[in-house]
Amino acid sequence: MDISTAAKPHDRMAQALAEDLSNVNDLIRERMASEHAPRIPEVTAHLVEAGGKRLRPMLTLGTARMMGYGGPYHVHLAATVEFIHTATLLHDDVVDESAQRRGRPTANLLWDNKSSVLVGDYLFARAFQLMVETGNLRVLDILSNAAATIAEGEVLQLTAAQNLATDEGIYLRVVRGKTAALFSAATEVGGVIAGAPEEQVRALFDYGDALGIAFQIADDLLDYQGDSAETGKNVGDDFRERKLTLPVIKAVAQATADERAFWQRTIEKGDQTDADLEEALSLMAKYGTLEATREDAQGWASKAKAALTGLPDHPIRSMMDDMADYVVARLT
Ligand code: IPE
Ligand code: IPE
Ligand code: MG
Ligand code: MG
Repeated sequence: MDISTAAKPHDRMAQALAEDLSNVNDLIRERMASEHAPRIPEVTAHLVEAGGKRLRPMLTLGTARMMGYGGPYHVHLAATVEFIHTATLLHDDVVDESAQRRGRPTANLLWDNKSSVLVGDYLFARAFQLMVETGNLRVLDILSNAAATIAEGEVLQLTAAQNLATDEGIYLRVVRGKTAALFSAATEVGGVIAGAPEEQVRALFDYGDALGIAFQIADDLLDYQGDSAETGKNVGDDFRERKLTLPVIKAVAQATADERAFWQRTIEKGDQTDADLEEALSLMAKYGTLEATREDAQGWASKAKAALTGLPDHPIRSMMDDMADYVVARLT
């Protein structure tokens, strides 16, 4: 690993947690198998072997270690979190009709929607088995709640998409559900399994919640400003899918009558030509909404950092602090 990559907080965290992370990857490989349905390992291997940043399992491993956990079950919890994440990605790419994920064609494109939905269900079930093995009812409660909240966020987004009445409050509710719920569960269960004091468990939750919101806002920016060679996903998908993400919501809020007609045609009616993405970008530039969105993401990253002040001084804590800046500045 060269120095420039090692300087990224998640790479430093991966180095610090290398042994645990390798155990998580072994457990993921073991549990994504299926004796009876060969389609399952085909689909899971396609997605799992493509990598992924493993941010959420690292947060579980890191928080458990930071809070002094000495047992084996943080590995199960980290694998649970990554399985839930992978299951939601399979389902999300069907819902969003996405063609690219982790730099590869999506499973729904290579196989079909049916395989993605069913293999996603299989991974959810595997996630539940893994967390049951910890024997800790409170972590079951946290993670099963998170799974429900993610689904709720995705469904809320379905009805908020294509509707110009979607405002920043609704957007925040969607993002907190579909993305932040898993980050906050990932950090909270690390503290819970370690038997951390309640106020520190709360601080871990608050960190994960704010980090997850910052992460998704940045993801929505990358959809307009990113480079697909870096993100491994297609740029402009959100506009084509008529999703009201923060940069668009902010532009719609300031639109003139003509501009509003443009948003109604492209987002509400879905009547789009290839040139419309350029026009959308120029309206966002006119009102500086990409910059304003980045500032919002930075604001959430600051909240995440503030939550860390209630936690013990530890090398992992300082990596989590850097991670908050990284999720906003990231290119992938
Ligand atoms: C993608 O998450 C889904 C979102 C919440 C935007 P990541 O960007 O963490 O996905 P991988 O695991 O690294 O591919
Ligand atoms: C990601 O949603 C959240 C979940 C997978 C639940 P998005 O649809 O915004 O993320 P990408 O861009 O497909 O990764
Ligand atoms: Mg998607
Ligand atoms: Mg989606």
